[in-house]
Amino acid sequence: MQTTSHDRLLIIDFGSQVTQLIARRLRELNVYCEIHPYQNVTDAFLKDFAPKAVIFSGGPASVIDEGSPRPPESVFDLDVPILGICYGQQVMMQMLGGKVERGHGTAEFGRAYVEPTGAESDLLFGWFVGGREQVWMSHGDHVSEIAPGFEVYGTSPNAPFAITADVERRFYAVQFHPEVHHTPNGPTFYENFVRIAGFEGDWTMGAYKDEAIAKIREQVGDKQVICGLSGGVDSSVTAVLLHEAIGDQLTCVFVDHGLLRLNEADEVVTMFRDHYNMKLIHADESDLFLGELEGVSDPETKRKTIGKLFIDVFQKYASEIDGAEFLAQGTLYPDVIESVSFSGGPSVTIKSHHNVGGLPEKMGLKLVEPLRELFKDEVRALGHELGLPASFIGRHPFPGPGLAIRCPGEITRDKLEILRKADAVYIDQIRRHELYDEIWQAFVAILPVRTVGVMGDGRTYDYACALRAVTSVDGMTADYYPFSHEFLGETATRIINEVPGINRVTYDITSKPPGTIEWE
Ligand code: XMP
Repeated sequence: MQTTSHDRLLIIDFGSQVTQLIARRLRELNVYCEIHPYQNVTDAFLKDFAPKAVIFSGGPASVIDEGSPRPPESVFDLDVPILGICYGQQVMMQMLGGKVERGHGTAEFGRAYVEPTGAESDLLFGWFVGGREQVWMSHGDHVSEIAPGFEVYGTSPNAPFAITADVERRFYAVQFHPEVHHTPNGPTFYENFVRIAGFEGDWTMGAYKDEAIAKIREQVGDKQVICGLSGGVDSSVTAVLLHEAIGDQLTCVFVDHGLLRLNEADEVVTMFRDHYNMKLIHADESDLFLGELEGVSDPETKRKTIGKLFIDVFQKYASEIDGAEFLAQGTLYPDVIESVSFSGGPSVTIKSHHNVGGLPEKMGLKLVEPLRELFKDEVRALGHELGLPASFIGRHPFPGPGLAIRCPGEITRDKLEILRKADAVYIDQIRRHELYDEIWQAFVAILPVRTVGVMGDGRTYDYACALRAVTSVDGMTADYYPFSHEFLGETATRIINEVPGINRVTYDITSKPPGTIEWE
C-alpha cells in the first residue's frame, strides 16, 4: 500500500543487524525509504511499491547454500539503480552471472582499507580524495568472479571486488558496510547513490507534517478520535498532530495513576488543555490505583495490576466519548519493522509497550498511527515543527508504571511524596549543571530501608535513596553517567537538606547488563 506520495527507496532486508542504519543514513539525506523483509518482496509488491531505487541489505546467510534468500528476478528489470551491500552484493553477483566462494581464510571482520583502482564513477564522488578509505567489513564468503558488465572500482586485500559497478545499468555492489560509523566516508557514498537515482531530498519534516495531516483527515473523515496522552514525546506529538488535523474531533485521555512526578499532571493538563485548547479528560484515578497497590511489593504484580487498571480506566473514559471510531497511538517505525527470521517465514516483532494493547479490537476501534514511518529523532523534529516546547520534546523516557517501579517494596503515599521531592531536586541539579541532554534517563529510587543519621544535634532515622543516571542509545544497554564528585556531593547535600524523610543518598553505578535501568 502506498503510504507517501514522495519518491521512495526500497531496502530489501536480508537480516543484517545494521539494516536500520541504512534507513537512518537515507533519511538524513531527506530521502524517504522503507525496509521490507525479502520474503515479502514479490513481483506484485515491487510493482505496487514502484521504488525509485533499491538497496539489498547484508545478512547472515550464505548465497552458496541451497534456498538462501533472494530478491525476485524482476527487481533487475525495474530500470532503477540498485545497491547491493555485503550479502546483498553477493546475491546480486550470483543472480547476474558472477561467482561467490566460501571464505577459506579470507573472512574479514572489522576495519579494512579499500584502495581505488583508477576507474572513475559518480558513485565515488568525494571518495579516495586522500588515497585509501577506511571501511567496515563483516563477511565470510566473497565474490570470486564479477558478473558480466561489471567493473572494479575499489579493492581491499581480502575483498578484491570491494566496490564494483555496472554503470550502464546503474547496478552497484560493495562488500563493506557504508552505513556504519566505522566507514567514516559512508554518508558521502549514500549521497552519491541517491543523487544517481535522482532523489530530490525533499523528505523534510515540514513536508511530512502537511502530508500526515492530509492523510489523517482522509482516514478519519468526520468521526471522533481518542488518544491516550501520557505527556511523553510520542503521545504528545501524536496528539498535537491530530489536533492540528482534526481539531475538536480529537479527545485525549490522560490517566493519572497517582504515580507521576512532581507537578507532572498539572503540567500536562495546562499544556494541552489550556495552551493547545484540546479536549482533554484528566482521569484522576490515583485513589483506585494506589488502593489496589496497597500491600503489593512484588515488581511483576505491581506492573500487572497497573497495566490491567490502566486498560479498564482508559476503556471507561473512552466509552463515554460519543461516536468514537478511532484510537490514535504513537507507534514508531522501529516498532513496526518486520524482522527477518531464517527459521521460518517473516516474523513480526512488534514491541507491545503501548499501554492500551489489545484495546482497539476489544472496543472495535480503528487505529490512527501517524508516526509509524518515523524514527525517534524524526518524531522530535516533527514536534519542533509543530511548535511543541523543547522541554517536552527532549524529555527523558518515563515508564508506564511510573514511580511504582522506583519505590522497591511496598508503595505508600508517604514514600511517593518523599520520592517526588527528591526526584525534583535531582533533576533540577542536572538541569542547573546543563547535563540533562547528555543523560538518557535520570531519576531517584526510594529504598525500602531506613538508616540512622545525625542532623543538627538530633538523631534521624529516615529513608535512603539511590540516584540513577544512564547513557544509552535505545534503553537496551546502558552505562552509568560519570558525574563529578562535586556534583554528587552537592546533590546529596541538597536532597538531605530539602527533602524531609531522606537522610542518606547513594549513587547507583551499575551498567545494563547486568543491571536494568529501573530498580524493579
Ligand atoms: P529497564 O529497567 O528494563 O528499562 O532497563 C528500560 C527502559 O524501559 C523503561 N521501562 C518501562 N516502560 N513500561 C514502560 O512503559 C514498563 O513497564 C517499563 N519498565 C521499564 C525504563 O524506564 C527504561 O527507559
